[in-house]
Amino acid sequence: MDSIRVQGGAPLQGKVRIQGSKNAALPILAACIMMKEKCRLDHVPKISDVYGMLQILEGLGCRTQWNGHSLTVDPSGFHGKDVAGEAAKSMRSSIFLLGAMLARQGRATLENPGGCVIGKRPIDLHVKSLKAMGVTFRDRENGILARTGKGLSPAEIWLDFPSVGATENVIMAATAAKGETRIHGAAREPEVTALCGFLNAAGAGIRGMGTGELCIRGGMPLHGVRFRIPSDRIVAGTYLFCGFSAGGNVLLEDAPSDQMEAILLLAERMGAGITVTREGIYAQFPERAGMLSSVRTDVYPGFPTDLQSALLAVRCTGTGKCLVRESIFENRFRIAGELQKMGAKIRQTDEKCVLVEGVRRLRGCKVEACELRGGAALVAAALGAEGETVISGKRYVDRGYENICKDLRELGARIVGE
Ligand code: EPZ
Repeated sequence: MDSIRVQGGAPLQGKVRIQGSKNAALPILAACIMMKEKCRLDHVPKISDVYGMLQILEGLGCRTQWNGHSLTVDPSGFHGKDVAGEAAKSMRSSIFLLGAMLARQGRATLENPGGCVIGKRPIDLHVKSLKAMGVTFRDRENGILARTGKGLSPAEIWLDFPSVGATENVIMAATAAKGETRIHGAAREPEVTALCGFLNAAGAGIRGMGTGELCIRGGMPLHGVRFRIPSDRIVAGTYLFCGFSAGGNVLLEDAPSDQMEAILLLAERMGAGITVTREGIYAQFPERAGMLSSVRTDVYPGFPTDLQSALLAVRCTGTGKCLVRESIFENRFRIAGELQKMGAKIRQTDEKCVLVEGVRRLRGCKVEACELRGGAALVAAALGAEGETVISGKRYVDRGYENICKDLRELGARIVGE
């Protein structure tokens, strides 16, 4: 089966250790092909998107070896042929190989990283920026062929939108371009900072991390390195919203609280007691999520789009009405229909906005996940719902959550994966 079964109503109690960050691990795994020596990554999440990326790396001639949650990547056998195969087709994150392969060998051929249910996911900003560095692109049958005639050249890059992926691709390409590349309007997400930290540890010269102005001194040889993947702020935030729905109190061990300011502020506005300690984030939840009249997703350090669905799920039983505005993706309210099946009162007011009115409690029923963060949000909704909820599409949740059922069960939830 491919479902998650939840008996709602059990409060959460206890502590859970937060896994490594999916969105930090994926570009860093791609960047491992930029050096010729082994890299060892610690705290790597065992999730299907990481397995997919490993399949791609192995298809390019790399060898990978797990040891617990540590992963060794040996790129010495890299042959750099086409990035192909099912994983390349099904995963948006294969796009990170564009920058990494251009840095390694000056050319890249990969499948068109198609859109997905949350949006068209264009790559115009990636292409425009890399063209400014001397890359030419040719369309192939449902694929991308990118080449640099005389090698990558440094450039001044102006990003019209702080795209995470485009910033990461330019950083990787610029690491191989002799001279200084500047990115103006770069994404500031912690996952971009983690990639810069990994590359600097391997010998790169990147300055301005965490700001919108990055300066990359390229052309230095990169060596193998050992690096720890930071904890996943979106997983930690998801469990926080699960706590709102189920009630109780939890300790999110090793949660990256310094990357979660907007999330924690919003949780406190909704009535949670939040204490940040050396161990992580201790959260006590109110009987019912308190008043929050509007929220808007934004680029970092704003409230992250990847937690919009989980917040929406919690607001379904919160006090009063709340206007939720999604400003990053164009189709990220897909779970509204599933939440309505559970009795939620949600009305889409325009393409980017929904108005949700809190009801006393949702009712458990059969619902369907169709993408990663929406699936996790349905888990959050089910924890507080009356009766049993069966969520089909567990495979989507497994893309980003190492073991959501086990984690929540250990906190007292009545939840099983089937
Ligand atoms: C990364 O996607 C994350 N994925 C996403 O997480 C996250 O939601 C997103 O950043 C925003 O924070 C990974 O890191 C693997 P973007 P990415 O480029 O890089 C538009 C999850 O659930 N855009 O910042 O694809 C785009 O259409 C996933 O873990 C262009 O128009 O995000 C979108 O509307 C979902 N042209 C917006 O920018 C481009 O060339 C944000 O995209 C690129 C993007």
